[in-house]
Amino acid sequence: MRFYTIVMQEQLIDKAIKVLDNNFQEEGFTLPSKGLYPFQWKWDSGFIALGFAHYNMDRAKKEINTLLNAQWENGFIPHIIFHSDSDTYFPGPDFHQSSLHPKASKKYRSTGMTQPPVFGFILQKLYDIAEDKKDILQFIEQQIDKVYDNHMYFYENRDIHNEGLVYIYHNWESGTDNSPMWDDIWATMDPPEYTFERRDTSHVDASQRPSKREYDHYLYIIDVAKKYLYDDAKIAEHSPFLVQDPLFNSILIKSNEALIALYTLLGTNNDKIQYLKAQQKKSIKSLNEKLFNKELGAFVHYDLRNEEQIPYISSSSFSPLFSGAPDAKIAKQLVETMMNKFGGNDRYLCASFDPTHEKFNPKKYWRGPVWINLNWILYHGLKSYGFIKEANRIKEDSLKLIEKYGFFEYFDSRKIHPDSEKSGYGGDNFSWSAALIIDFLKEKA
Ligand code: SER
Repeated sequence: MRFYTIVMQEQLIDKAIKVLDNNFQEEGFTLPSKGLYPFQWKWDSGFIALGFAHYNMDRAKKEINTLLNAQWENGFIPHIIFHSDSDTYFPGPDFHQSSLHPKASKKYRSTGMTQPPVFGFILQKLYDIAEDKKDILQFIEQQIDKVYDNHMYFYENRDIHNEGLVYIYHNWESGTDNSPMWDDIWATMDPPEYTFERRDTSHVDASQRPSKREYDHYLYIIDVAKKYLYDDAKIAEHSPFLVQDPLFNSILIKSNEALIALYTLLGTNNDKIQYLKAQQKKSIKSLNEKLFNKELGAFVHYDLRNEEQIPYISSSSFSPLFSGAPDAKIAKQLVETMMNKFGGNDRYLCASFDPTHEKFNPKKYWRGPVWINLNWILYHGLKSYGFIKEANRIKEDSLKLIEKYGFFEYFDSRKIHPDSEKSGYGGDNFSWSAALIIDFLKEKA
């Protein structure tokens, strides 16, 4: 591991703190990035709270409290909470119309789709970081049932075969929005040409964002969900997009484990612990049996609509390491695949899509660039299985990218390319890049 002097570390942490503090809003939440993302996003919020936890625990708590306050009566937590009327973002609340669902929040406008369930493991991280354990336990006690209800919502509504794997019905639910993963699903659809004004491309170069035609597909899936008033069972029946995502399910498993540990610590809710343990057993078994692809040596997505695995390798393919589900042999195979395809010395780890594949695009959103949150997830997964060299490489690459280019949303994985001096893409002063760099640097030896 490269030697970072204390001074260098402190300087980087100071810069990261400035990014987070500048994006914090008085209403009690933090923008992922000014301009491009003008509201509160679910998984961003979790990573942001983790960054705050190292220097301002009150803000960390506030971030989580605000997000969880937008929970629906059925336990669902939306992916965007629209705290304002910003007309600089599309599609906004008027397009999503989440109030069509009878149990939608009456307090907040939001989308009717979700994002990976990070809050279980984030609450546990807050506990580990907090100096005042009594105070943080009190906070956890106030919040934990909301997170549990969210997990129960997933298992009761989105596990249609009762196999412990939950579905996502929209690519935006995966967090990896325009991954080439979805291309074969788009090929089965023929959505109308929507007329709308893109807002993202007024903040970021269009070459780094999804295409107009991709947006047509995204909007159409929302329209299908709206037609059925965001009813889960009807979405499962009719949505053209229905996928079991290894990243989403790995995060759910990791968060189950955290909830079990936290309830045990609190000494309460034995029934909830038992429920989670039973789900956990099924989830781990199915993740290993259904989503692992032996030939590829990687976990893959499963297309429930067309009943087949989607045989592409992405950074999500290695995220089961974070869940602890794979056995030692599979873990070893995953690391080999990752290092062979993604880990050349001419690249930073870890590209979001297989760099050896023709669909790889080094600049375009989730079709190739490196993302710091996936690196953080993979770092912890690798470390927990004892792959220390690879874990350190991923952490060091993350720090190098941020030091060299700044707190961007995503980065080119190629070390040398025609415009290597500008390898940071998407939103600048991006909150989770800052938050997770703080967590990387504050990690106890
Ligand atoms: N990340 C999406 C966007 O680009 C929405 O979640 O707006």
